[in-house]
Amino acid sequence: MPWAVVGVSERPYTLLSCAVSLDGCLDDATDQRLLLSNAADLDRVDGVRAGCDAILVGAGTVRADDPRLGVRDADRRARRVAEGRSPTPRKVTLTRHPGLDPRAAIFTGGDGDPLVYCATPAVAATRERLGAAATVVDAGASPQVGWVSDDLAERGVRRLMVEGGRQVLEQFLAAQLADELQLVVAPLLVGDARAPRFVADVRTPGGDRPRADLAEVRRIEDVVLLRYALSARFEQDDHGGTPR
Ligand SMILES: NC(=O)c1ccc[n+]([C@@H]2O[C@H](COP(=O)([O-])OP(=O)(O)OC[C@H]3O[C@@H](n4cnc5c(N)ncnc54)[C@H](OP(=O)(O)O)[C@@H]3O)[C@@H](O)[C@H]2O)c1
Repeated sequence: MPWAVVGVSERPYTLLSCAVSLDGCLDDATDQRLLLSNAADLDRVDGVRAGCDAILVGAGTVRADDPRLGVRDADRRARRVAEGRSPTPRKVTLTRHPGLDPRAAIFTGGDGDPLVYCATPAVAATRERLGAAATVVDAGASPQVGWVSDDLAERGVRRLMVEGGRQVLEQFLAAQLADELQLVVAPLLVGDARAPRFVADVRTPGGDRPRADLAEVRRIEDVVLLRYALSARFEQDDHGGTPR
């Protein structure tokens, strides 16, 4: 299956998750957060999160959306604790600059110790800025998502959910690190060429355009969930994302 590198069993099972408009946008071009999904789907996403060990977003999403990334449902949190896990998966972000705000919800949600993978030149300033709010990992001069993925595996992450934004999704796809894509299509048009698309530049080795395996189509009220298998490791069981 050419979408993902086969045979690398140590890296986390990696699930890309995002919602798009009918015209393929992740957001509009304003500063306000555009809600694409609906309540039922957000509950599904909460269940998928609960089945993961870590949730990763880029610093752009931290700045634009200020997501908490935690598991919200009390029963799901309690179930994780009963299984000997933290109430919520580890929160992870990537940055090349020392600009992350320690007041961002990812750092203040009170759920464990977030990880910040940071380019070497920005490490010292980021550690100073974030203090005890996060563990800042020196990810090298030009951090690569493959290295981040390996490092997460060494930290015990077996199942990784990547929730955007565009740059981060592009890198996981280009590096052929994704095992699954969960794409939610919302019934609205953004209709603005300035708005960020799901992905723009993704150059896979070989330059071909492999067709992904459509593993599931699920209607969730007014949105549609498309699940694509991107690797031979694809797991049909979505580990908590099906309705309760
Ligand atoms: N619809 C959805 O499901 C969904 C989900 C998530 C996000 N979004 C939207 O997506 C947009 C944000 O997307 P985006 O592409 O701007 O942001 P992004 O991918 O979330 O973050 C990009 C930033 O992450 C850091 N980064 C990325 N790759 C890195 C690497 N290899 N090493 C170190 N740092 C790295 C850089 O941060 P620094 O600039 O700090 O160096 C970069 O500017 C927002 O509009 C948001 O609302 C939508």
